[in-house]
Amino acid sequence: MSAVDLSSFAGLIAMSLLTLNVLLGLLLSTRYHPLRQWPHRWVPIFKFHNWNAYVSLSLVFLHPAILLFSSTAGFKIFDVLWPIHSPGQRLYNCLGTITFYAVTFVVVTSHFRPRLGNRIWKPLHYTAYFAVACLFVHGTFIDPNLKNAPPDFLDGEKVLVESCGVLVLAGSMLRLRHALRKRA
Ligand code: HEM
Repeated sequence: MSAVDLSSFAGLIAMSLLTLNVLLGLLLSTRYHPLRQWPHRWVPIFKFHNWNAYVSLSLVFLHPAILLFSSTAGFKIFDVLWPIHSPGQRLYNCLGTITFYAVTFVVVTSHFRPRLGNRIWKPLHYTAYFAVACLFVHGTFIDPNLKNAPPDFLDGEKVLVESCGVLVLAGSMLRLRHALRKRA
């Protein structure tokens, strides 16, 4: 397995975990109660959401870091942190880096939630939606082999990215409907 394959694998796991985290976050925000509702037993949703965020962040970091060890990708540290002159698909590289900074922002601000207070923290936490929007465009359109090839939307990896995107979109729509009904 080459460094590019390994990096792509880390990226796919990070994306799957971030998808799971958005869905868990949506359950938290709608006050889903697993004891009263299905599965009628206690599930520590907040703990899962919290720890999953740290694991996801580590993988989001690892995904570009592995590329630095590839002799074929041609990425230097600056191409990862500020990829406007990076090799290959610059726009999608930039969206990947924006995702990295946005997820870091969400996790760091959540760490300081007790000090920030809910009123300040919560609007900052909506950055999560921006982060995953960038993530799905990055993941859908980038060539996993970094050869500038057009994306094959029916390739297994792309289907995984697209499925996660659809799940997040559907969950977010339900969340919006819930909020609108509550307001009405
Ligand atoms: C240590 C890190 C994190 C903590 C402590 C945390 C905590 C929380 C809490 C308490 C809620 C419920 C908010 C409420 O309605 O009262 C929430 C919601 C949410 N979280 Fe997180 N979170 C973390 C990281 C993340 C990450 C990394 C993502 C995804 C990138 C994420 C995505 C979401 C989403 C989408 C919601 C629903 C927001 C809404 O529409 O109301 N969270 N989070």
